[in-house]
Amino acid sequence: MNTAVSPESIEKNTLESQEETHQTIYLKDYTPPNFEVLSVDLNIQVFDEYTLVHSKLIMQRQHAGELVLLGRDLELLNISLNGSVLTSDQYQLDAEQLVVSNAPDQCEFEISVKIHPETNTQLEGLYQAGNLFVTQNEPEGFRKITFFPDRPDVLTVFTTRVEADKKFPTLLANGNLIEKGDVVASADSNTNDSNNRHYAIWHDPTKKPSYLFAAVIGDLEVLKDTYTTIEGRDVALEIYALPQDLPKCHVAMQALKDSMRWDEQEYGRAYDLDNYMIVAVSQFNMGAMENKGLNIFNTACVLADPETTTDPAMFYVKSTIAHEYFHNWTGNRITCRDWFQLCLKEGFTVYRDQSFSGTLQSPAVQRIDDVSSLKSSQFAEDAGPLSHPPRPDHFVEINNFYTPTIYDKGAELVRMMATLLGKDKFRAGTDTYFERHDGQAVTVEDLINSLSDGSGVDLRHFLPWYSQPGTPCLKGSGQYDALAKTYTLNLSQKTPKKPNYPEPQALPIPVGVALFDRSTGKQLTLNSTALQENKVQDGLFLMDQAQQVVVFEKVVAEPIVSLLRDFSAPVLLDFSYSDSDLAFLLANETNGFNQWQAAQTLLERILLQGHDAAIYLQAIALAVPKVGQVDALLASRLLEVPTEGYLASRIAHNFDPVKVHTQRDALLNAIAEQLKDYWPQAYTALPIVAFEDNSIEMGKRAYRNMVLSFAVRANVDGALGWASAQYENAVCMTERMGALRQLVWNKAPDAQDKLNDFYARFKHEALALDQWFGVQASNPNADVQAARQLLQHADFDWGTPNRIRAVTGQFGANPVNVWTASGMQFYADMALALDQKNSILGSRMLQTLSRWYTLVEPLRSEAQGILQSLKGQVKSSSVCETLNSLLKAG
Ligand code: TRP
Ligand code: ZN
Repeated sequence: MNTAVSPESIEKNTLESQEETHQTIYLKDYTPPNFEVLSVDLNIQVFDEYTLVHSKLIMQRQHAGELVLLGRDLELLNISLNGSVLTSDQYQLDAEQLVVSNAPDQCEFEISVKIHPETNTQLEGLYQAGNLFVTQNEPEGFRKITFFPDRPDVLTVFTTRVEADKKFPTLLANGNLIEKGDVVASADSNTNDSNNRHYAIWHDPTKKPSYLFAAVIGDLEVLKDTYTTIEGRDVALEIYALPQDLPKCHVAMQALKDSMRWDEQEYGRAYDLDNYMIVAVSQFNMGAMENKGLNIFNTACVLADPETTTDPAMFYVKSTIAHEYFHNWTGNRITCRDWFQLCLKEGFTVYRDQSFSGTLQSPAVQRIDDVSSLKSSQFAEDAGPLSHPPRPDHFVEINNFYTPTIYDKGAELVRMMATLLGKDKFRAGTDTYFERHDGQAVTVEDLINSLSDGSGVDLRHFLPWYSQPGTPCLKGSGQYDALAKTYTLNLSQKTPKKPNYPEPQALPIPVGVALFDRSTGKQLTLNSTALQENKVQDGLFLMDQAQQVVVFEKVVAEPIVSLLRDFSAPVLLDFSYSDSDLAFLLANETNGFNQWQAAQTLLERILLQGHDAAIYLQAIALAVPKVGQVDALLASRLLEVPTEGYLASRIAHNFDPVKVHTQRDALLNAIAEQLKDYWPQAYTALPIVAFEDNSIEMGKRAYRNMVLSFAVRANVDGALGWASAQYENAVCMTERMGALRQLVWNKAPDAQDKLNDFYARFKHEALALDQWFGVQASNPNADVQAARQLLQHADFDWGTPNRIRAVTGQFGANPVNVWTASGMQFYADMALALDQKNSILGSRMLQTLSRWYTLVEPLRSEAQGILQSLKGQVKSSSVCETLNSLLKAG
């Protein structure tokens, strides 16, 4: 490429080519709204073939300029301003907005529109899902309901009248129910069945942006409970679901109460309304949505019972309930100024739900699971063409930015600051944030300023983390001076340079550290003056230069250093450990997370750098049975091997998926072989007992399934028979699925029988049926033909994202099957099939292929051909933006 081309001109070019179709939005172009909305009254009337939305907006000028109401796919029936009907020459209307140029300073708009929830397949705005009408307005769905300044910095008070036929007894919106009744037929009514209609009026006293507006119309049953806040407010808790699903709402209800208590204790935050409603819907693009006082949940994230839900899925229900509840403060009462600040609410809220979830199981395992998913999703994203900073500076389609980087890296950034401050100072910082910004729409800077001012510790040097993409690498070595009794760490950091971003700068990296006596394995006390002011305190020091030296004094014995304890920063660590140093840490680290991290580092060396596996195999064979006796959950995690997806993210060129798969598979075989005598005794030590929902029993179930999979792999005598028996005797889904997986994936003679049995048992349970699709799609021996056949099954449903993901997501669990010409074509076809129907999901299909350009030939050229042939065929802004990013990477 011509190096004389300046970065600015590159940016211009890409901008022009995108502008042909979809517009790029820049953070630097932010301007505050010209008008505020003092209040809005909505009247939503649902009919079988259309829905009418009437709105009354009271607006007040804040700045000079035009008045902009955003609206998409709306049929405008009527608009009046301050009492007089506007004729079409008094405003400009295009596909995206309605603009009034010379609006007076005070405006009262009355607007009527017609919309079509019954044909809305995008699951955005108001849509019909079976017998239910629900809204999904984050980020830009409200503009598909009515004309409105649909941006997060416009907050207002909503009063909502919902009207529908009485076949829909459930009529919900945010806030308090202030009136309900029957619709009385009026003389001018053109419907003669109005006496079959009823309405409800809801008033939400808290100001909120339109993306938090919600309404639900349907026929649901409700599970009720109550909660009294620490401030003495009685809150009615209600979970709405289909009648047959109501017994599955108890887990969520308990998690909700636990979350409410936790937020009071940990952050001093109490709930602020008289009711809190949750609605379960089976057709939903994401996990759940934190609409003020009226959360809407994917059924997969709220329904749970032992018979149909596996432990990880049940745990995810609890975490998601917590996540949406915590948004009430971090997201709703304090919201985002603009969508570039998305990680302000999502990162902070994920950090909060991770902390809460760590109280439900061992904190070490919580950290392992969070870091493991960070590495396999966020690190991978950051290594590819969709890499972006936690606060992006431009986007085409904001729906494409609900990413692991925003959520999970965003959480890590808050965690780093919390770690550095310690519990009390962090709390002082968050107290300041909540006091200062309650009721406002704010930026990342506002959070960091509050944390700094409240704690008295300046954290502003963390800001570059928010604007710089890429995963930093922390490199280093250490030397012990036996005479001087000092141990010296030499560290350097480097963040990879990304196209269109300035030269990366050094970042503040908190480094958790411990020293262990090399001969006894005991932990040593830390004494350090360091060569700079960043002293080691409470096992932590701050690396904030490109290069840095840290000296530990009075080190009485030759140490082995443990670095980045508890994964104190989202970085890659490249330290000059020998493999036996890592084996030492696996054996002697006192924290389960750090043991796991040592094992993972060893595994990466074997799988990516060709190290001999012997040291690892010996170490893991010693560690696992020992840990297994005291902490089965941790033992199940220690046996994890980095996913092929993560390994691929570390390979920059000539990525050969078959080679990665073969090597990883061989390593799993070697682990299975190494512990071959242990598996039978471990399995028998874990008999099936009655289901209990606690971390100890969950650990035993996880470990039993892990042991079973290794036993099958090692061809232990009768192991497939154990699986059949476990399937038959299972008392919960974790056991049944753990067994079925082994039977199906290993082509057991009774695999098809058991699949048929499972289908017969659960064909009326959508979420269990998703697992039935999933176990077949994730079969390592299944090729893409098998996945395509699942799409033809009578129970496959293009309108239910959960069902689609059960096939595409689970097929993606085996990258070696994805990275074939037919596998890639499968995802391209899915993206095309969903482009018009559900573009958010369509875009995600394409994201599966984001690292195509690293592939070895001829796969790389095949990938390029497949992607190029999508060009011109896909139309939605979500899919086009992703396709353009992917193609540019080549
Ligand atoms: N704010 C939601 C959450 O993280 C995310 C979300 C739910 C969402 N539904 C969505 C984002 C639809 C985009 C589109 O809790
Ligand atoms: Zn969220």
